[in-house]
Amino acid sequence: MPATVVVGLQWGDEGKGKTTDLLARSVSLVVRYQGGDNAGHTVVVGDEVFKLHLVPSGVLHPHITPVIGSGVVVNPRILLDEIAMLEERGVDTSRVRVSRAAHVIMPYHVELDRAAEARLDNEGIGTTRRGIGPAYADRAWRTGIRMGDLLRPATLRQKLARVLPERNAILHETFGLPAFELDAIQADAVAWGEQLTHRVVDTVGLVQGALANGEHVLLEGAQGTLLDLDHGTYPFVTSSNPTAGGACNGGGVGPRQIGQVIGVMKAYSTRVGSGPFPTELGDEPGRHLLEKGREFGTTTGRRRRCGWFDAATLPYAVAVNSVSSIMLNKLDILSGLPEIKLCTGYRVDGVSATWPLEVDDLERAQPVYETFAGWDADLSGIRRMSELPAAAAAYVDVLEELAGVPIALVSVGPERNQTIVRGPVDGVRELAGALESVAG
Ligand code: IMP
Repeated sequence: MPATVVVGLQWGDEGKGKTTDLLARSVSLVVRYQGGDNAGHTVVVGDEVFKLHLVPSGVLHPHITPVIGSGVVVNPRILLDEIAMLEERGVDTSRVRVSRAAHVIMPYHVELDRAAEARLDNEGIGTTRRGIGPAYADRAWRTGIRMGDLLRPATLRQKLARVLPERNAILHETFGLPAFELDAIQADAVAWGEQLTHRVVDTVGLVQGALANGEHVLLEGAQGTLLDLDHGTYPFVTSSNPTAGGACNGGGVGPRQIGQVIGVMKAYSTRVGSGPFPTELGDEPGRHLLEKGREFGTTTGRRRRCGWFDAATLPYAVAVNSVSSIMLNKLDILSGLPEIKLCTGYRVDGVSATWPLEVDDLERAQPVYETFAGWDADLSGIRRMSELPAAAAAYVDVLEELAGVPIALVSVGPERNQTIVRGPVDGVRELAGALESVAG
């Protein structure tokens, strides 16, 4: 069976955790392929709410091996804390594996991220300050520390001895911050390695072995297409490739091993951090989305900026990810709005413009809206398309037409069973099967 990719089509926070959770029954490996603890996945199982940053949400299913792939940047301290939290709550974490090629977020990366953002005050990227950018920069500069290095103290020391003076110089001379001590960092890093030693493996071999056995591998993206280093609103992006191509590099599969790509999007847009957001709302509908949608960051607790769905970006997101079907989340949040707007294009300096745009043009872009009737009914108990208010069904139809691929699933609440299988579900047969058993 080929692999499935779950990818965000917006600026992250689309609800990918729920999609992964729904698919879990048919899956034996869930692989995170990029990002780090900047991500936050909230998974609701019955009365229990799990907030995960690094460990793939598949950990909650005893038959799944959760894998942190080589494209992820790992803060070992955070990983160890997360594993301890899960164990305390009775979740078996013995199957969690981490790629030995994954890069380590070292304490100086976190300091550099914080210092750079603080210096720019409100003009920065608005990062999560978790050291993501500096860790990926060291990877590109070939001065990074990899998870496998934590298991080889002599190699580790050599690498640290080379890179640390350079990073300390920036910390001290540019930002006036204290330097890190080589001995102390080395001791911490060796201790992390000792605690994680049995988990640090060749995850590409693991993934390829599972695929060769005919097992179903799920590659789980963090963040979203519009935060992609290459496809997003650069420089207001993260430092990795959340798009489906990133799943190949960071997960260890080839393009022909991917059978389906499930794009996940919300019925409206949100964005955390800085950067252009043409459909952003500051007024009443914006507050409705923020409060009813509980749009606060899982990682930083920041308010998410809320706005109308930006369908001008949708065909691009569908194309670059080669999306086969879509899961549309949080349709229930739109209930109670008198009217709903959908951005289908932009005008820049009075001239019509289409995505992609240079970031400074996007800053000035005026959205062109189509307006739809709203609805009042509470959707959270609805399980069939035929039970949806006509206005809600019409809104989903329009989104599907703009996307050009089927919206196979519509979510109307955080619980597993608050999901409508809309069909056609050819691309997500296993998912439909899983849902039937959940509903049953
Ligand atoms: P970084 O990934 O911490 O470097 O942050 C870069 C940008 O990506 C900032 O605008 C962050 O708010 C955003 N970002 C990073 N991770 C997430 C996420 O999981 N959801 C939404 N936005 C994110």
